[in-house]
Amino acid sequence: MMFRKALLIAVAVMLLAVSAVAENTVDLIMNTRTTQAFSDEAVSVDGQKVINQARLSTASAINQQPWFFVAVTNQEVMKEIASSGMGFAPPAGTPGKPEGAPQDGNGASPAAPPASNGPKAGLGDSPAAILIYRSDASKSPNADFDCGLAAQNMVIAASALGYSVKIISSPTMALNGENHDALCEKLGVDTSMQAVAVLLLGHADSSVDVTSQATTRESFETKTNIIE
Ligand SMILES: Cc1cc2nc3c(=O)[nH]c(=O)nc-3n(C[C@H](O)[C@H](O)[C@H](O)COP(=O)(O)O)c2cc1C
Repeated sequence: MMFRKALLIAVAVMLLAVSAVAENTVDLIMNTRTTQAFSDEAVSVDGQKVINQARLSTASAINQQPWFFVAVTNQEVMKEIASSGMGFAPPAGTPGKPEGAPQDGNGASPAAPPASNGPKAGLGDSPAAILIYRSDASKSPNADFDCGLAAQNMVIAASALGYSVKIISSPTMALNGENHDALCEKLGVDTSMQAVAVLLLGHADSSVDVTSQATTRESFETKTNIIE
């Protein structure tokens, strides 16, 4: 009898702990925002932990794992990429060309209104960056989507580890532009791969008010249909 009671209490405590973890996870996801300004504080990791958590947890179509990650903390390399081939505009439909053209950080002239006012961190503005490459699209038609999932998982992993993050796609113009092969060689990436996004990683600059710059979201009704 005593044992049964103890077991029931243990199960109840476990359930409470699991629901607290789930709640914290939802909070973490809901509170993770794009960081537009990073401090100079170096990050002690080379992104390994963040990459590993995303790499191990992300699902991909037919388990192709069509990604390759490059963690960069070398500021010179970041600046070189940021200034490499900017202005090169691949034709529409070229892999890696950000939809609707770049908006801001490292980008050329915005095609759409800026998402928010204030600073826009680009490549070279954070102490670390993770470049996300995907395999030749003909080998895996879902590769972009899979890499997007990995990027978002990295955002969550980084956030849980106490980092601030920002996803940008504008550097893909440089990474996939005329210097693509040379940059791949420098970064140790197979030249058949294309860059899809870059994750900026660091700590937020606490002197910058990011809350009042936070972008808004359109309404539930605008973006959702419910068919009953
Ligand atoms: C795939 C992707 C590409 C993005 N590319 C850029 C970019 O090139 N430059 C930039 O400043 N922000 C970029 N962003 C950041 C978005 O502008 C930002 O996430 C969006 O405005 C929502 O802002 P919030 O995360 O603060 O709510 C990108 C975000 C995503 C998900």
